[in-house]
Amino acid sequence: MFEDLRGQVAIVTGGARGLGYSMATGLTAQGVDVVLLDLLENVVQSASTLESKSGQRVIGIPVDVTSEAELKLAFDSVNSEIGSPTLLINAAGITIWEESLLGSKESWSKVIDINLTGTYLTCQAFARGCKANSHSGSIVNISSMSGSIVNIPQNQTSYNTSKAGVDMLTKSLAIEWAPLGIRVNAVAPGYFLSDMTRQFTDANPELAAQWRNLIPMGRMGEPSDLDGLVTLLCSSASSYLTGQSIIIDGGYTAI
Ligand SMILES: NC(=O)c1ccc[n+]([C@@H]2O[C@H](COP(=O)([O-])OP(=O)(O)OC[C@H]3O[C@@H](n4cnc5c(N)ncnc54)[C@H](O)[C@@H]3O)[C@@H](O)[C@H]2O)c1
Repeated sequence: MFEDLRGQVAIVTGGARGLGYSMATGLTAQGVDVVLLDLLENVVQSASTLESKSGQRVIGIPVDVTSEAELKLAFDSVNSEIGSPTLLINAAGITIWEESLLGSKESWSKVIDINLTGTYLTCQAFARGCKANSHSGSIVNISSMSGSIVNIPQNQTSYNTSKAGVDMLTKSLAIEWAPLGIRVNAVAPGYFLSDMTRQFTDANPELAAQWRNLIPMGRMGEPSDLDGLVTLLCSSASSYLTGQSIIIDGGYTAI
């Protein structure tokens, strides 16, 4: 247990499902109250399920992380309902697979807007709250190993580029906001089982086998494999750690 997390308030974007929901679940186990933000309307249902399961306060708010106005409304309402959040997990993200020779400006912009700009805008809304309420904070951006390696066989240039951007965003904000007491780190997962990856592996089971063969530990990550690292980065147990992107991939990138 990371006792210092008990009673803190975390915002988790992309929290309606997948890795976001799983990390939110991990935080509730540490006594954290959680606010799930997601484009999906069923984020409200996800929140009430997690609230009954965990006994912690959990709120779900439909928000598009590319909208500054929606983010401001959501943070204002969280601030007045349960207080200014001290933890932020940025997990909202999408991927589009396409050959770059055929790719459109629209699909490129969509991925960059959500994965990179959305992460920046959410960090900004969070840090403004920390400053206005004179408290410190910890941000964990969900990057990807794809920010530093190129996956095969799929082509996902916009995704890889967006995650490389998230890694540099993480470092830049860490330096800028260190004087505010806000730590900014990233977790960069390898292949994990989630709705995002299932859309591809369900349609093409051979792909899952191909990926597994490239992972020294011989399996894809389970969403709960992220819990230990994410809670450590949120906790004051990692109080001297900032500006880092930590890859968690069953050994994939070590080869
Ligand atoms: N699954 C993996 O193998 C893997 C690996 C590395 C990194 N990641 C990253 O982890 C994060 C979570 O991915 P996942 O696998 O759980 O995918 P997922 O598709 O299951 O979940 C992503 C969530 O983000 C939400 N979202 C998308 N656009 C949004 C927007 N504009 N505003 C608010 N919410 C939005 C979706 O509705 C969804 O609930 C993503 O950033 C992804 O890039 C995943």
